[in-house]
Amino acid sequence: MSHDHHRHDHDKGFMANVRWLLKIRKFWQADTNRAIIDMVDPQPGESLLDIGAGMGPATVLAAARGAAVVAVEPSGLMRSICGVRRLFQRARSRITIEPGTAENLPVAGGSMDGLWTVNSIHHWVDLDLALAELARALAPGGRIVLMDEDFTHPDHPLHETHHDHEDEMTNVEVDEIATFLATLGFEASGHKTVVAGVPVKLIRATKST
Ligand SMILES: C[S@@+](CC[C@H](N)C(=O)[O-])C[C@H]1O[C@@H](n2cnc3c(N)ncnc32)[C@H](O)[C@@H]1O
Repeated sequence: MSHDHHRHDHDKGFMANVRWLLKIRKFWQADTNRAIIDMVDPQPGESLLDIGAGMGPATVLAAARGAAVVAVEPSGLMRSICGVRRLFQRARSRITIEPGTAENLPVAGGSMDGLWTVNSIHHWVDLDLALAELARALAPGGRIVLMDEDFTHPDHPLHETHHDHEDEMTNVEVDEIATFLATLGFEASGHKTVVAGVPVKLIRATKST
């Protein structure tokens, strides 16, 4: 490979890193996370699960409302950042950060009052296994809110620049997910809607009592 080619590859890698860094503010404190916590409506004393918590933007909001939150996150780097962030929270004693995935949640069966995920479903490797695992984690009457920003939607502000599709394992079909949750004993509905100004795929469900 010529020197020029090397330089070109290096520039591309550098730009990818810069693009990733620019997204950090969004990971850190996104309006979509604020909106999903309004939907979950955490109550003091509840046990809740943030799946694919990343740097914990939704976790800290739910804990501040008095719930105990388990932030499940497979990436060690993300868990470390979330762990530092936790230390600065008044509600830190209510936040636990655990390694795990949607397919393998580190919680006892029937132990959670509610759970959510923001922008991780497309990373899930086995959707059916993950949904069954969500069902296992929840107590009767437990609630689910799953949200994935729809970057393929022409109205999404990042529609033109979002090119992460190669690491997306799961195509998020809201109706299929809602139907599958119904077979697991949930009252469930799927929507393509707009939340905090961005097009999203949204699934809400409640486990039968
Ligand atoms: C785009 S980030 C979103 C993070 C955070 N929820 C937020 O809104 O800022 C997606 C996260 O999903 C995590 N992830 C990847 N595979 C996963 C899986 N199988 N189950 C749960 N989370 C997963 C990634 O490590 C990453 O932190």
